[in-house]
Amino acid sequence: MPDIERFLSEKLHPVYKAHYAIWIYWWPLWRKMYSGPKILRKWEKFNLVKEGQTFLDYGCGAGSFTLPAARKVGQAGKVYALDCFHGQLKMVEKKSREEGLTNVQTILSNLETGLPDESIDIIWMCDVFHEVSERRAVLAEMHRVLRKDGVLAIYDGMRERVLEYATGLFSLAERDDKLLRLTK
Ligand SMILES: C[S@@+](CC[C@H](N)C(=O)[O-])C[C@H]1O[C@@H](n2cnc3c(N)ncnc32)[C@H](O)[C@@H]1O
Repeated sequence: MPDIERFLSEKLHPVYKAHYAIWIYWWPLWRKMYSGPKILRKWEKFNLVKEGQTFLDYGCGAGSFTLPAARKVGQAGKVYALDCFHGQLKMVEKKSREEGLTNVQTILSNLETGLPDESIDIIWMCDVFHEVSERRAVLAEMHRVLRKDGVLAIYDGMRERVLEYATGLFSLAERDDKLLRLTK
């Protein structure tokens, strides 16, 4: 059982569990109605996602960006949706099935991806970095799986403080407020 689910089932009071359950449904709605379209416009601005690419959505949540990425990379591409919370991955699988998207594969993990070295064109990490405890280890895993000319795009309220953890692994190529485009 993933850490977060064990934490929820063993440690939390039922009131907090109910709050969390509401929150995981509220967040995708917020993404769909407001913040998602704003962030997707930044993809366009940075020309971030292209047809045929292999895309890793690290901390995919309910798939607010997994599905747009799957549509964008198309059948020639592939999207890996990774999250440490099994319930989120089930939602991604259900939505992908409903949309007929066959190029999405989920990964349950809080660190390792299980993907081959230098196999990914773009890694997307949106509003996840601040939640991660092993930040340096996660960045090292991203460095391992990203192609030499690949892009790591991190959107996070930590902004440029992300770079303190990325030293020696990634450099900043471009920035737009909370969005950092990093390269190896
Ligand atoms: C605020 S949500 C963002 C979800 C999605 N990226 C979005 O922007 O809509 C953060 C997600 O990161 C996941 N997460 C947090 N720490 C993680 C870790 N170490 N490894 C994988 N997923 C993680 C959580 O389970 C949650 O689904």
